[in-house]
Amino acid sequence: MQSLRIGNEELQYEMELLSSGFPGKQTRSFTEDLEKSFAVKFGSRYAIAMCNGTATLHAALAAVGVGPGDEVIVPPLTMASTSLAVLHAGARPVWADVDPETFVLSAATVTPHIGAASKAIMPVSLYGLPAPVKELANFSLPIIEDNAQCFLGRIDGEIAGTIGAIGSFSFQNSKHMTCGEGGITVTDDPNLALKMRRFSSLGYDQLSAEPGKMKIEKKSIAHPDTIRHVDFGFNYRLSELCAAVALAQLEKLDSMVAMRQKCAQAFLQVIEECPFLTAQKTPLGVEHSYWAVAAQLDTDFVSWDDFYNTFCCNGGDGFYGAWRLTYQEPFFAKHFPGTHCPVAERLQKRMVQFKTHYQSDSEIDREIKALEATIRHFDKRRTGIIGTRETSDL
Ligand SMILES: Cc1ncc(COP(=O)(O)O)c(C=O)c1O
Repeated sequence: MQSLRIGNEELQYEMELLSSGFPGKQTRSFTEDLEKSFAVKFGSRYAIAMCNGTATLHAALAAVGVGPGDEVIVPPLTMASTSLAVLHAGARPVWADVDPETFVLSAATVTPHIGAASKAIMPVSLYGLPAPVKELANFSLPIIEDNAQCFLGRIDGEIAGTIGAIGSFSFQNSKHMTCGEGGITVTDDPNLALKMRRFSSLGYDQLSAEPGKMKIEKKSIAHPDTIRHVDFGFNYRLSELCAAVALAQLEKLDSMVAMRQKCAQAFLQVIEECPFLTAQKTPLGVEHSYWAVAAQLDTDFVSWDDFYNTFCCNGGDGFYGAWRLTYQEPFFAKHFPGTHCPVAERLQKRMVQFKTHYQSDSEIDREIKALEATIRHFDKRRTGIIGTRETSDL
């Protein structure tokens, strides 16, 4: 039995795991294999798997020393985990506006928020577009790349997520690769790797930055004087069941990313011809991994609801709008009133976010035809009404 995303490879690894029993000392560890393979694939020294992509952000923040009294600069136009992780670390999220063309943080939008309490910057590679980490590096603050939505995006050939101090990825169900729930961090720094490893695994002394089981002799683990916890930590470990699926997904990540990019190109060809949709801009030298194709409805003539309903009536599968800005969500608005990011506020209301997870040419074709018909519908109405208005103005 196969679903569109999960094939024989995942089933085989699960069978291997379940039929051998959960890993003891002698059996294969899928978490270890996933970490090793992910590090090699992404060109990082260390990879540390965890139970989700919010835990990875929390561990990354703790590793760079973020704590109470500190501020972390984040975008408001993203899923709320970016800001929640800052709160988990006991620090304060400071929301910087986003660039109107790329929809992500830029040096210009971050600059006004740099202050004595700034401890880190956490840009988000939104919709799969790598955030401009190299320009943000000029602030001399640690950069944690929230790449939950960006797998194998590149900046000048370098894989996004491996440029800042730490990169964080999510394996949640909607992402390029998935195991239902899961996540992983990458870094080249052995100290940060060890800190994240201990933070995500109850602060155990016997852990190391490298993947693998705890290095402890049978006699020591049995001995009543054995010291175990040298650091504070959470239990954020990834289960072996999830790691087995994630490893199989990693092994076909290239083709899964390529499929999304192909799907995105089909959408972009249509969007480029549309007078009232403007796609997220991909800067020169950047490769977008297209978790989604985002565009803004650049007109007051077509409402988001009308566009959505017409797209669905034309046979489209639907699309998403942007999340409410994080500081507009009731919990954040109550505790952090008074934030205002005008560009993000304008974009949020107008964002149209097409899905790219389609697995066949016929599914992509159906979406493209729906989009073309929707654009034709509004274009006819738009030109008709502009004509009437012009006549009545005369
Ligand atoms: C930008 C961003 N950051 C963080 C997360 C959190 O990841 P997870 O759901 O694995 O906790 C997500 C997605 O779900 C996300 O889209």
